[in-house]
Amino acid sequence: MLVVELRHIKKAFGKRLVLNGIDLSLEKGQTLVIIGCSGIGKSVTLKHIIGLLDPDEGEVLVFGERMSYQPEKIRNRLRLKIGMVFQNGALFDFLTVYDNVGFVLKEKYGWKEDKVKERVMWALDLVGMIGSEDKYPSELSGGMRKRVAIARALVYEPELMLYDEPTAGLDPIRSDMINRLILKLKSMGRSAIVVTHDLNSAYTVADRICMLHNGRFITDGTPEEIRNSDNPIVRQFIEGRAEGPIAL
Ligand SMILES: Nc1ncnc2c1ncn2[C@@H]1O[C@H](COP(=O)(O)OP(=O)(O)OP(=O)(O)O)[C@@H](O)[C@H]1O
Ligand SMILES: [Mg+2]
Repeated sequence: MLVVELRHIKKAFGKRLVLNGIDLSLEKGQTLVIIGCSGIGKSVTLKHIIGLLDPDEGEVLVFGERMSYQPEKIRNRLRLKIGMVFQNGALFDFLTVYDNVGFVLKEKYGWKEDKVKERVMWALDLVGMIGSEDKYPSELSGGMRKRVAIARALVYEPELMLYDEPTAGLDPIRSDMINRLILKLKSMGRSAIVVTHDLNSAYTVADRICMLHNGRFITDGTPEEIRNSDNPIVRQFIEGRAEGPIAL
């Protein structure tokens, strides 16, 4: 059974066609990385998988079940098997770090406090945030918020992790820590989709790298295959070359 299957997804916002018939499949235990330029539709793709957006055409399947166009009750049941790290962290500003991370365990799973505490501390330890339990998101740096967001996504040990820019805004050492965390969860059999601009991270964690361009995936290969790609669009992206004149 595939963990994620996107079947010919089309999605437009007004006149802007963002996804123009994308297909994607993720097998159990695999880590797939999506790369592509800013504004190309990477976050939109993840939001389809977690059922925050529905496609105009096509189907989204997670764990073999349809996610799109389902009642909220069914989506929520499927979402319990998915941990998502949002691009902006999306923490609750009015809750402490501890309560942010424990929220789903308490509210959705109905766990008792001592069990919640044990698991929250385990998750905070994984991301190196022990000692910040009582702080509010506004008291944290961007990188710290990111790590709390990761702890919150993995605290209920979901089968599938979706990471939207997990290393953005982190220093190289923290980025390495997150890469190792992604690899560790993979070694525990978890499946993952990682959206990133950080090629070092992509090469480190990916089994497969897919590049999104003009509404389609234009590559699906191993890090080695992407690195050696002779597709000019892929080359321009991985070499970080901007084209055209700069008007000052
Ligand atoms: N809810 C929405 N309503 C209208 N337009 C949207 C919505 N969400 C995304 N878009 C548009 O869809 C396009 C793709 O957005 P998306 O956030 O997926 O980009 P991205 O590839 O994740 O970029 P970045 O690397 O900057 O995060 C953009 O043009 C964006 O403005
Ligand atoms: Mg994005």
